[in-house]
Amino acid sequence: MRTKYTSLQIGIHWLVFLLIIVAYCAMEFRGFFPRTARPAINMIHVSCGISILVLMVTRLLVRLKFRAPPIQPKPKAMVTGMSHLGHLVVYLLFIALPLIGIVMMYNRGSDWFAFGLAMPHAAESKFDLVDVLKEWHETLANLGYFVIGLHAAAALMHHYFWKDNTLLRMMPKKRS
Ligand code: HEM
Ligand code: HEM
Repeated sequence: MRTKYTSLQIGIHWLVFLLIIVAYCAMEFRGFFPRTARPAINMIHVSCGISILVLMVTRLLVRLKFRAPPIQPKPKAMVTGMSHLGHLVVYLLFIALPLIGIVMMYNRGSDWFAFGLAMPHAAESKFDLVDVLKEWHETLANLGYFVIGLHAAAALMHHYFWKDNTLLRMMPKKRS
């Protein structure tokens, strides 16, 4: 039986982690850049966001195929239940957040770019809808900080407090 997640799952997990840092930083620090750099910063944000969406859906499909490797020593049933619920929230949040972003950009009805490519948009702006989606996007993004913080704290609790192999199962394999 496997003792770690597959290399694909581990690779996607840490790639998404890096992309999330870049996506958040692009928005949080955009005010420090001159106006002329804004289009590039926005493109970095949406390109990372779209990549996160694709990777989260991919990893969810991969996860349905491969069971998570067992945690040793086995945690209490309540801890296992909480972590399943937590992972479900992480999946839903980081699929819904970029999806809302895409629908928002589409309905702005003006040119926008991802990966250097012009993306499709509605013929006319739907300002009311865009305002609602913008609020949702901001709220979920703020919730994301909290959820990822809890997720990382839980991983560290497993490693340092319960001293099980939860974190090691998600660490890249050492070269032999
Ligand atoms: C997981 C992926 C994503 C994360 C973590 C994320 C996070 C954020 C954050 C933190 C902000 C700043 C909110 C604020 O001003 O308080 C933001 C704004 C924005 N995001 Fe995202 N986002 C993601 C994906 C996307 C995607 C895929 C798109 C579009 C394709 C997008 C489009 C936007 C736009 C246009 C804004 C600026 C809204 C405005 O102030 O006019 N985001 N995002
Ligand atoms: C410091 C940051 C992080 C640490 C230490 C960490 C650690 C871990 C660990 C140890 C696991 C395995 C948990 C288990 O099987 O019970 C895991 C799973 C997971 N992580 Fe993270 N993670 C971090 C950041 C992130 C980020 C940014 C995301 C963003 C989406 C994420 C999404 C997930 C998901 C969805 C799973 C569930 C995997 C499955 O389907 O079984 N993690 N993480």
